[in-house]
Amino acid sequence: MKLTPAQLQQYRRDGYLVLEDFVSHAACDSLRQRAAQLVHEFEPGEVASIFSTHEQSRLADDYFLNSGDQIRFFFEADAFRADGTLKRDKERSLNKIGHALHDLDPTFSSFSRTKEIKQLVADLGVVQPLLLQGMYIFKQPEIGGEVTCHQDSTFLYTEPVEIVGLWFALEDATVENGCLWAIPGGQQLGLKSRWLRGPDGAMKFEVFDAAPWPDEQLIPLEVQQGSMIILHGLLPHRSLPNRSAKSRQAYTLHVIPAACRYPKTNWLQRSPNLPLRGFD
Ligand code: FE2
Repeated sequence: MKLTPAQLQQYRRDGYLVLEDFVSHAACDSLRQRAAQLVHEFEPGEVASIFSTHEQSRLADDYFLNSGDQIRFFFEADAFRADGTLKRDKERSLNKIGHALHDLDPTFSSFSRTKEIKQLVADLGVVQPLLLQGMYIFKQPEIGGEVTCHQDSTFLYTEPVEIVGLWFALEDATVENGCLWAIPGGQQLGLKSRWLRGPDGAMKFEVFDAAPWPDEQLIPLEVQQGSMIILHGLLPHRSLPNRSAKSRQAYTLHVIPAACRYPKTNWLQRSPNLPLRGFD
C-alpha cells in the first residue's frame, strides 16, 4: 500500500490529498528538461498564428479538440502583441503541452508509469486503470494565466464519475506563483456542468447547477517540488494568474477505470491507432 487508511479517509473527506516528496527532485528536473527539449524542437510558426487572432478561433479550437492523441503546444493569451507576433521567445510564451504526452513521449511515459503511481491508483480503488490525459503546465512568470474554478469531470466526464487527477509539482508552487486552490469537501457539491459536443459538432456547456462557486471556501495548496496532489474529479479547484518572476511548472495525469462509460461527446478522443493504455 502507498496510502495509509488515514490518508484514504482524508482523501474521501476533502476530495484531495497532498503527498509530499512523492517524486524525487531528480525526476522532476529530468521531466522539466524533457519538456524544454520538446519546446526547443517545436516550430511555432503556423500554430502561433492560429492563436494570435480571434478570427481564427475555429482553427484554434480544432487544434485543441484534436489534441487528445497528440503532443501539441498551447500559448498563453498574453503571449502575443496586437500584430500577432510573440512578445517573448517561445520558451517563455507557452501555457501548456497536451494531451497524450504520457503515451507518445518515452520520458513522460516512464514518469507516468512508475510502480509507485500504479500502487497509489490501486489504493484509490481504480480498477483496471487507463491513463487518459497527460498535460504539462508552464504557468509562466508574469503572464501565466488564471484557470477559473472548475471540476475536471466537467471536461473529462465518465459514468460513474471515477476519474482521478494526479498533479505533480515540478517546481515549488506558492500563492505568489499561482499554486492550486481547492474547496475542501467540495466534491460533495455534485457535478455543476458538462462540456460536451453538441449535435452540430460544436462544444457547449450543459449546466446542471448555475449557482456560483463558494469562492470564500477556496484554500491555497502550497507545495514544494516533488509533491503530488490527488484530485477527485468533482473537486472544485482553480489557480490564479502568475504575476511573479518565478514559473510554476507542473505535470498532470488523469486516470479512469476501464469499465466506466467514456462518452463520445467528451472533447478528448483517441484514434483507434492509439488506444488508451494502463500502467504496463
Ligand atoms: Fe483541473
